[in-house]
Amino acid sequence: MEYFFSSTAPARTRTGCAIAGVYEGGQLSATAAALSKACGRRIATAVGSGDIGGKPGETLLLSRLPGLACDRVLLVGLGNPEQLDLKRYRRAVSDAAGVLKRIGARDAVNYLALEPVRGVDMRGRARHAVEALEHTLYRFTGLKTGTDRPIALGRFGIVGDRAVRGAVEAGVREGAAIAAGVRLTRDLGNLPANICTPSHLAKTARELAKAHRKIEVQVLDVAQMRKLGMNALLAVGHASTEPAKLIVLQYRGAPRREAPVALLGKGITFDSGGICIKPATDLDEMKYDMCGAASVLGTFDTVARLALPIDLVGVIPAAENMPDGSATRPGDIVKSMSGKTIEILNTDAEGRLILCDSLTYVRRFKPALVIDVATLTGACVIALGAQYSGLMSADAELVAGLRRASEDACDLVWQLPMSEEYADQLKSPFADFANIGGRPGGAITAACFLAKFAEGMRWAHLDIAGTAWVSGANKGATGRPVPLLVQFLLTRLRTSSPAA
Ligand code: BES
Ligand code: ZN
Ligand code: MN
Repeated sequence: MEYFFSSTAPARTRTGCAIAGVYEGGQLSATAAALSKACGRRIATAVGSGDIGGKPGETLLLSRLPGLACDRVLLVGLGNPEQLDLKRYRRAVSDAAGVLKRIGARDAVNYLALEPVRGVDMRGRARHAVEALEHTLYRFTGLKTGTDRPIALGRFGIVGDRAVRGAVEAGVREGAAIAAGVRLTRDLGNLPANICTPSHLAKTARELAKAHRKIEVQVLDVAQMRKLGMNALLAVGHASTEPAKLIVLQYRGAPRREAPVALLGKGITFDSGGICIKPATDLDEMKYDMCGAASVLGTFDTVARLALPIDLVGVIPAAENMPDGSATRPGDIVKSMSGKTIEILNTDAEGRLILCDSLTYVRRFKPALVIDVATLTGACVIALGAQYSGLMSADAELVAGLRRASEDACDLVWQLPMSEEYADQLKSPFADFANIGGRPGGAITAACFLAKFAEGMRWAHLDIAGTAWVSGANKGATGRPVPLLVQFLLTRLRTSSPAA
């Protein structure tokens, strides 16, 4: 997509489609009013006759209005002006993008960024317009041989007065970089498990290193992991014909060496459940069990595109959870890399097993803080549904930072408690602890399991089981929580650098 800045008056802007807002009750935005005035009040008339009421979700397309330089005007409902917040604004841009996609528009100019969006400056409005636009235009068609019409939209303008040009361009750059990271994450998530294997994730990481000078990648194979004693991870992967990998990424952008932020991503390329095999219903969706890994790769891509002056480490344990004659059985006990022993009571609680060794591994980087991202529990889907990712951490400052970032990014998280009492559910008569804690508080006991391996580190856990993809007719990966992670890093940079 080519983005451009425009400061011409709406009526005189040459474009395939001018996007303007209408508020609830038919109140025209300033842009819509200016356009209407120039075309003999045709817009006011259409609104007046109830063709669009201005509620969120409503759109109205008007073609070839006299007196206007644009071919079409696309009116979008913005709701109550007092309630125009970031979420509403993004929704409006998405609604517009949906129409542009449907009608095959080639170019458009977005005037919605001129509306006062509560708490969001011009830079943010430009950025979120780009994110919302690209999110809606996204399609995963690589594996279809049919003749799907390609997306026609190639040029998108964002309007502001001359004084904000710099802010708009900065916002566009940020938005495009985030959209690219999100796209990579969605593409990887949507790929089926016979293509997106642990080796494929490793290859993608290597491609990132090739594309960005500041990224380095190292991939540990099974033999190397065995030497390190990563037996919890290997217990998950070894019954698959696809060998497990530990993918380690380093992004070095800080002017001076500093303790890096570490991101860990669960990379189960298919979760059959292992010997505790899952039922067949919706089992295809367990190809998405590597979305944590994909979000780490996507975040690296965005950070490198933005050339952020930070140091970042990524650790991706990648494996396929399958049953065969050599598979881990319920009751098997393994010694993790940390030295602690684990009784694997359920082979379907595999995410925590690959992550616990990754938490131990990441210590060698002496990270300033660690965030793991995982489609970890069905219990989190039951607790929070598809809107909020679960956030668990004993570090209040980290929790506050992630919550704040989640709101600024429109990529929401909700904290679940993680107090010690829950950890009692992980007691085992035979090993240091069991890998499951029963059904009550399942998302929390999973986090408590991980906490045992994060001792002494600043650490937070994001359970994205409900948010990483959507089910149903529009099935597909969402790219979450790339926007949240990038926002967290951006805010951390702005508030911790002495220059800011
Ligand atoms: N990958 C699943 C979690 C999951 C399930 C995510 C459904 C999204 C939708 C995870 O590996 C798993 O199987 N967890 C078990 C844990 C249980 C055995 C303690 C679960 O949630 O049922
Ligand atoms: Zn899983
Ligand atoms: Mn599982």
